[in-house]
Amino acid sequence: MDVKQRCVRLSVKPSRGLVDEKFIIVVQNVFPGSYLTIHALHQSEDGNSWEAFAHYTANATGTVNVSEDPSLGGTYLGVEPMGLLWSLRPVPGSKPGLRLRKINVQTPMEVTISLYQGHQTEGFLDQVPLASVVVERWYMAPGVHRIPITDYGLSAVLLLPPGPGPFPGVLELWGGGGKLVEYRAALLASHGFASLALDYLTPKITMETGKMVDKEYFEKAYKVLEQHPQIIGSRIAMLGISFGTSIGLRCAVYSKVMKVRCLVGIGGIHEQPLDGTIADILAHHRKNAANIHYNEANELICRDMMLPITTDPAFKVEMKEMMERAGNSHLLTILSYPNAGHLIEPPYMPHTRSSLYRGKRIITLWGGEMVAHSRAQEDAWRKTLAFLRENLLGGIKPAVTSLSRL
Ligand SMILES: *[C@@H]1O[C@H](CO)[C@@H](O)[C@H](O)[C@H]1NC(C)=O
Ligand SMILES: *[C@@H]1O[C@H](CO)[C@@H](O)[C@H](O)[C@H]1NC(C)=O
Repeated sequence: MDVKQRCVRLSVKPSRGLVDEKFIIVVQNVFPGSYLTIHALHQSEDGNSWEAFAHYTANATGTVNVSEDPSLGGTYLGVEPMGLLWSLRPVPGSKPGLRLRKINVQTPMEVTISLYQGHQTEGFLDQVPLASVVVERWYMAPGVHRIPITDYGLSAVLLLPPGPGPFPGVLELWGGGGKLVEYRAALLASHGFASLALDYLTPKITMETGKMVDKEYFEKAYKVLEQHPQIIGSRIAMLGISFGTSIGLRCAVYSKVMKVRCLVGIGGIHEQPLDGTIADILAHHRKNAANIHYNEANELICRDMMLPITTDPAFKVEMKEMMERAGNSHLLTILSYPNAGHLIEPPYMPHTRSSLYRGKRIITLWGGEMVAHSRAQEDAWRKTLAFLRENLLGGIKPAVTSLSRL
């Protein structure tokens, strides 16, 4: 029963697409009822290997369709069209605390999808697969322009959608880990939003000025968007995750310069000193440091200091009541995802339950369960794009780009 002799066909469509685009994996021309394993392998830019795999049984015509057939074992179970991406995890023996993040948005994330005979769980790299396909997943659609911005001492990158514009703008902030992280802004640009990824915690700024950034830093970043000839200055949003949400809320409410049209905050808090600098906020959070504790795996739980997990009812109720008291309930949309973790990323990114944080040797627990988290990422991203379109575009046709259709 050499499956190979039947000229097995493995296809992934599209084999080149945006990271938030679904693909369809089909196996054809195998023996009816044969046991097969489909394996995904990714070599990350930081030199680590990530894999996912699932067990399938070919149907009576010798076919497996990952979008319709259930996985019977492996890193996910059941019918999961995108399971081979969202269940990626470091290969056995990898360093602890890894998180999969795209560094260079000008290259694709490459994933090798391979087909193996039998229901296997290990030793994939020591075997010759029956068939393999390399899939490219892009954050940056063709025609997106990447422009590093260093004016006014900013550490930022502007990602402009393809075409002449004018485009709505998004000021894009990550959390307390710092660094210039571009991939989500690149994906927003691929969907028609001119996005400025801004690093506000980088040590370089600290060294140059001797202190952390102040509110003018964010206002300057806002002006880069507002004054850009290809951006509609009156249609700018902020999008933040974690600490970036806190910053976004401050800017939106208190800045006299920034006229933010809407704000998307992912897993954030609004408990902070109002007039303070970044340094003041961090000092405020540090006052709660005594509340930090560790779980049995020695992972740091910092929600008691500064990171309420998205399911924390205290956060939701407080924000909701605050808006009610101000008569602004109609302006607030709350999405709640029970069992999702803190790090809600674009869809099909693997769930990171815990990871090394700020280069320290301590592994921070972000929480969440893989399946619920993956569903949350898919739903939240779709609703985020719809929310941005509704509030920023209001009647203007969005410039949506899809690689597979080019
Ligand atoms: C096997 O799956 C393929 C693709 O989903 C389908 O077209 C075909 O009808 C199936 N065969 C049987 C016998 O169910
Ligand atoms: C696989 O399933 C998807 C989703 O149902 C469907 O669109 C596609 O046509 C199927 N492909 C084949 C070859 O059966």
